[in-house]
This record gives sequence, structure tokens and C-alpha cells, in this order.
Amino acid sequence: MGLRKNKITGETKIPRHIAMIMDGNGRWAKKRFLPRSVGHKQGMERMIGLMERAFDLGVDYITVYALSTENLLRPKEELEGLFNLIRNHFKEYMRRLCARGARLRVIGNVALLPDDVQKILHESEAETAHFAGKGINVALAYGARDEIVRAVNLAVESGEKVTEESFSALLYTGEVPDPDLIIRTGKEVRLSNFLLYQAAYAELYFSDKMFPEFSDKELDKAVLEFSRRTRRFGKTDEQLNTQE
Ligand code: IPE
Ligand code: IPE
Ligand code: MG
Repeated sequence: MGLRKNKITGETKIPRHIAMIMDGNGRWAKKRFLPRSVGHKQGMERMIGLMERAFDLGVDYITVYALSTENLLRPKEELEGLFNLIRNHFKEYMRRLCARGARLRVIGNVALLPDDVQKILHESEAETAHFAGKGINVALAYGARDEIVRAVNLAVESGEKVTEESFSALLYTGEVPDPDLIIRTGKEVRLSNFLLYQAAYAELYFSDKMFPEFSDKELDKAVLEFSRRTRRFGKTDEQLNTQE
């Protein structure tokens, strides 16, 4: 019985959309006297493994926060290392994942990235544009405030008043349902400018693990915790029970 409780079963509620704040790559590397770039590489590889596990569990959408607008102020050397990871590995990783029929969307102000990196991202998106149903969103040069301000400007230009739904469609995540579960690794308990509009009713899960050590088992633990929570969306338990 105790074992079953800690294992994903047919009764476990699986989030449709999981968003992950992959934090702790630098500290993971530092603890091992390795350069930060090694931490980022490990983090990226772990991310692919987690995405595969999530798809196996039945998750439809996965969003990963890989680089924030604020991160663009990091030392040039670190940024160059991150861009090299994209240059050398992005296509290969995405092909592996997209073999499962997932559509890749890059969310964020991609124009802030080097031209050749933009090209890789656009080509990868185009390769999967025909897929529907499952999705991978990679947030690069992403900031939720930037996203919201951009959407406001689009609304102003259109001259139309917005509703919650039509505004949501103007965000980078326009066609993607809101996240059900947001996981942050790396011990920090904050959102750091991630999906501020879309997170309105997401369940939040914080892990002390650094991202490269966030194993498939840790993901299962987060999903089990999600499954145990009651999502009331403002209603009472009685209303939920009578499904009003
Ligand atoms: C997260 O890891 C990845 C990026 C922000 C690019 P960090 O690089 O923030 O790692 P820590 O927080 O310094 O350990
Ligand atoms: C958040 O991590 C951004 C990403 C994971 C891409 P940071 O390491 O940049 O967050 P702060 O600065 O500690 O809030
Ligand atoms: Mg960090």
C-alpha cells in the first residue's frame, strides 16, 4: 500500500502541461569544481530525459525556462557557452523529442539572440510545425513582463478591447493551454519573471535539487504531489463534489 502511494498508477492525475524552471546548473557545477558551462550541458541533457519521462507519463505540453531576459545580462562568456550548446546540440535533441510527434515552439524575444542561433531555432520550429496535440515550448530570451507588454501593444494596435481569452491568445504561448504544474529546482522559491499571466492557477512545486540532479524519480514525485492536491479554482469542496 505504502509503495503504491509513491508510484504513478492509473489513478494518478497527470498534469496536461508541466512547466519547468531549470535552475541550479551553475551551483551544481561549482560544487564539483567544474565550469558553469558543464553545468548547463548537464542541465540540457537532463531536460531531454525529463521531457521523455513526462511524455511517457501522458503529459501533452512541456515548457522549459532556459534563458530569461534578465539572464541576457550575464557575462558574455557564459552566454556564448549557452549559445554554443544550442549551435551544437539543439537540433539533435529536438529531433529525438519530436520523433514523438511534439511541436516545438520557442517563446521569448528571440530577436535578442545571435542571428545563427535564431536560424537554428526557426528551422527546428518549422520542422515540427505540422504536429498538433503534443508540444514542447522552450523559453529563450523570455520574460513574462516583456511578453505582457508586447501583448498589450498588439492589442492597442488592433484597436480592439481584449477579454481574458483574447489577451491570452496574444501571449507567446497563445495556442498552448495554461500550465497545470510549475516545477522549480535549485532551492529558490520564486517565479523569476516566468509565465506570470499563465500561472494564475498553476500548482507550484519547489525542489531543493539542482537541475542536473533532478531525476525521473523526482519528476514522478512532483506529479504524485500534484495528483494529491485539490484544485478548487475558487470553488468550495462541496461544489467540487457535486460538480456544479
Ligand atoms: C539555470 O541555472 C540556467 C540558466 C539560468 C541559464 P543557473 O545558471 O541559474 O544556475 P545557478 O542558479 O547559478 O546555480
Ligand atoms: C531563472 O533562473 C531563469 C531560468 C531558469 C532560465 P535564474 O537563476 O536566472 O533566477 P534568479 O535570478 O535566481 O531569480
Ligand atoms: Mg540560477
